[in-house]
Amino acid sequence: MKRQAEPAAGASLTLGSGESAGLRRAAAPLTLPERAHLDLRFRSAPWKRVVEAFEPDGRLVDFGCGPGLLAHLLQRAGFQGTYLGLDSDARKVDRARRWLPESPARIFRAGTVDAATPGAFSQAALIDVLYLVPPPERADFLARAVRALTPGGLFVALTSGGGPGWKRRLDSAQERLAVGLGVTRGGGVATCDGAEIARLLEAAGLTGAAVVDVGRGFLHGFELVLARRPLT
Ligand SMILES: C[S@@+](CC[C@H](N)C(=O)[O-])C[C@H]1O[C@@H](n2cnc3c(N)ncnc32)[C@H](O)[C@@H]1O
Repeated sequence: MKRQAEPAAGASLTLGSGESAGLRRAAAPLTLPERAHLDLRFRSAPWKRVVEAFEPDGRLVDFGCGPGLLAHLLQRAGFQGTYLGLDSDARKVDRARRWLPESPARIFRAGTVDAATPGAFSQAALIDVLYLVPPPERADFLARAVRALTPGGLFVALTSGGGPGWKRRLDSAQERLAVGLGVTRGGGVATCDGAEIARLLEAAGLTGAAVVDVGRGFLHGFELVLARRPLT
């Protein structure tokens, strides 16, 4: 596992300014609390860095897609491929469908990692999900997730983590609150950081795992983890 200051160069997806307004317009079909949640989620995480980590086309599966923010931002950034969003919480899938029309190029389904056809996706996303998977189950969860990738496929994970200790304590408290209030459903809450994800992805057979600190300028610490399935 290596630590990188920046993701590898060559990104061609990017978000411009004015995304908050674009999000508000797109999310108009949702209720006020749902729109407020999306707005807060957009402002509180490094989405520009997340979107830039993906390739501009190919077949992408988003594990734990939630209400569809990544799908929306990828489209805004010019993503030309196909997108499958999976979430174990059917309420989140329903919410995603209410503001993001489905098409052959963009589908949302209730389900978890096993719902993705093995070897069918050139990119996989896991954005702020693993803290909801109990630590003893994470290795198996990621091993099943990486099976979705084609040889050479790219895995992109975002997790809270990095930064000073006070940021980690804040992350943990907020995540417990979200699960406690029922805003987020999961098997429990236990923080995980980029190094843990990188180690588990390499144990699952991916190579070149790199951890990038993308939390600067945000209240919470964030780390991006990038890794690839080997070509052979
Ligand atoms: C904090 S939300 C993040 C949602 C979205 N990725 C985003 O960043 O906006 C975590 C999501 O993971 C989903 N989730 C939790 N455990 C899961 C699992 N085992 N399989 C699929 N989704 C899961 C939850 O239902 C929730 O929608």
